[in-house]
This record gives sequence, C-alpha cells and structure tokens, in this order.
Amino acid sequence: MPRILIAPSILSADFGEMRKEVRRVAGCGADRIHIDVMDGHFVPNITFGPALIESIRGATKLPFETHLMIDRPERYIERFADAGSDTLIVHYEAVRSPDKVLKEIRSLDKEAGIAINPSTPVGRVFRYLPMADMLLVMSVKPGFGGQRFIPSALESISRARERARATGRRIRIGVDGGVTLETGAEAIRAGADELIAGTAIFGSSNAARTIRDFKGLGRPYKYFR
Ligand code: DX5
Ligand code: ZN
Repeated sequence: MPRILIAPSILSADFGEMRKEVRRVAGCGADRIHIDVMDGHFVPNITFGPALIESIRGATKLPFETHLMIDRPERYIERFADAGSDTLIVHYEAVRSPDKVLKEIRSLDKEAGIAINPSTPVGRVFRYLPMADMLLVMSVKPGFGGQRFIPSALESISRARERARATGRRIRIGVDGGVTLETGAEAIRAGADELIAGTAIFGSSNAARTIRDFKGLGRPYKYFR
C-alpha cells in the first residue's frame, strides 16, 4: 500500500523555538518538514530565508522541503539548496522558465517541485511534470496559515493524478493549505500522497496522535491506483 507522507508546516510553529519545534514534530512521526519561505512580494507575508533553514538543519535528519513563495525563485535556488533543503518547490506563477529552474534544482541533486495556486488551471503545468519529482497543489491562497481549504483543489489533484497515471509517471502530489482530517481524506481520495499541515499539527494538543490519524487516512488511496 502506498504510504501517505505527512509534512508539518513550520509556519505554524513557535518561531522563537524553531529547533525544538522541528525536533518535536519529528519525534511525533512526521515524514518531512515543510518550510514556507515568503518574500512579501509574491505573497503579502514575510517569513524567513536560508539562514533560518541552516540553523534548524541539525535538529533532525528528516528531509526538508522548502516551499518558495517568492518571486523569481531562480535567483536563490543555490542558496536554499546549500542551506540544507532536500526538495525545492517553486511556484509556476513566479518563474519565467519552469523547465530551466526545475532542471537546475535537479542538477544540484535536489528533488524538484512545482507548485500551483488554487486559481491556476492544473493543465498549465502538465508539460513540466516530467521534469518534476513533486507537484504541490495549493488549497488556500498562499501567504498565511489557518485558512479554509478550497475544494476546487481536489479537481486539480485528481486531474494531475490521472495525467501522471496515463503517462506512467511516478510523481508525488502534495496538498497544502487548510488540511484537516476531513479535507486530507478527500485529497487522498483524489490522488494526493502527501499532506502538508500547519495548524492541524502545531495547533494540536497531541501532535503524535494527529500525525498518526493523518497516516491512517492512507487506506482509501489503494483503491485509486
Ligand atoms: C500557506 C503555506 C502552507 C501553510 C499551511 O501559504 O504554504 O504551508 O502553512 O498552513 P495550514 O495548515 O494552517 O493551512
Ligand atoms: Zn507551504
């Protein structure tokens, strides 16, 4: 049975205790750490840059996936790679040549991800899927945690999964924004195999149980493949 990966988004962590927070969710069974980088330009919010990633890198061996919500991310790929990211995710809407930047990421021996905003038709990125290891479907408008899941993301997920299957391509499809046990279950049913969750995990009084519950949602997916 394919495994569902759970990636807590540290956007919802206590920023004053970042190392501790990363270690804590790693100990609770997380599979990856999702790191939201925002530039106040591509999105209205500002978070942190490569220095923060470097400073938390030693807290866990789990893969770091860096979600670049920044304009023209091609300018910073090497810096975020050097800082300790294992996956670099760029927004389709923010890059000039998606194929070039995805290739650059892979040439640095990192996993390449492409993200789409909820308003972007998923068909626009189909031609880039062969160059990507991961597709990130945003289910909220990027910029802030704690928003409500936008249901049209489910359609994007299932269309992308359909396309991947038709072309025989193995690609990880992550869903990001407003993920709860309910919306996470729907996303998995649609074909997602990675759930990214900030509020649901960091806001939980029992993060280990929440992560376990998320992983328990993995079952429906086997019927999908
Ligand atoms: C939103 C970020 C998400 C966000 C998810 O711009 O990309 O990763 O942290 O947070 P929740 O789970 O609270 O919607
Ligand atoms: Zn994110």
